[in-house]
Amino acid sequence: MKTQIMAMDESYVKSLAAFYERGNYREVFINALSKIFTDVKLGGVRSCLAVGAGEGWCELEFLKHCGANISKFIGIEPDHASAEHLKTSLRSSLPGVESQVFEAKIQNWEGPRIPVDLIMMFQVIYHVPAGERQEFLKKVHDNWLVSGGYVAVVTMKRGARRVCERLGIPMLSLEEIEAYFLKAGFARHYEHEMDVMRDLRDPDDLLPFYQLSSEDRLITLDDLREAVKGPMFEEKIHEIHTITLYKSRN
Ligand SMILES: C[S@@+](CC[C@H](N)C(=O)[O-])C[C@H]1O[C@@H](n2cnc3c(N)ncnc32)[C@H](O)[C@@H]1O
Repeated sequence: MKTQIMAMDESYVKSLAAFYERGNYREVFINALSKIFTDVKLGGVRSCLAVGAGEGWCELEFLKHCGANISKFIGIEPDHASAEHLKTSLRSSLPGVESQVFEAKIQNWEGPRIPVDLIMMFQVIYHVPAGERQEFLKKVHDNWLVSGGYVAVVTMKRGARRVCERLGIPMLSLEEIEAYFLKAGFARHYEHEMDVMRDLRDPDDLLPFYQLSSEDRLITLDDLREAVKGPMFEEKIHEIHTITLYKSRN
């Protein structure tokens, strides 16, 4: 049985923040949003669901840029401290919007009562267990989204795969992710790549971040230090992340 090891305090929130601060991801993300939403308009979007939103920084920026007029926000986030931060961010960023945050893993959540216009899955699809991924996306397509609704997905296309491999963290390629979405009935609507630089030297503060990704295997500091050894990690590494918009074909 898989028993993912979760943080019981602020350690995961801090570690995820440290991961972002080690690179220019947030700056690149904002620039990408400006570019995407000169090409694409999501003005009809009123309700949304954010899966694995963490404290919600990326999801709230996305909503700010995409031209949506949000009246309902549902967040799903299993990490307690992240969920509490998300609630605080929602009060200041989306005042007056009906918002709910559920502390749950998405595969265990029953789904929205009424289908939503947009679902955001930023850096989270890897966390849905492989055996449940296809069924989950089919449910999203057939029941959780309105007809013609969108799923915005952010995933890493290229990056420190070697760290994950050395830590035994299962990886998914962009092609594999795309295949899941197409099989569930989605069509790719738009895709944008982001070039990110990240410094993985002295990685101790990243342990909770990698631990959450490693399912039931306990990672030690020695494992992590060992995983970032080698010439590739002696300077900043280059990562490519993609933002993809899928549209329901219902
Ligand atoms: C890499 S973080 C991404 C956070 C945020 N979406 C972003 O882009 O900055 C992954 C998030 O997914 C959450 N998560 C992990 N497993 C999950 C699951 N099975 N269902 C929903 N969320 C999950 C984690 O707690 C974490 O907040």
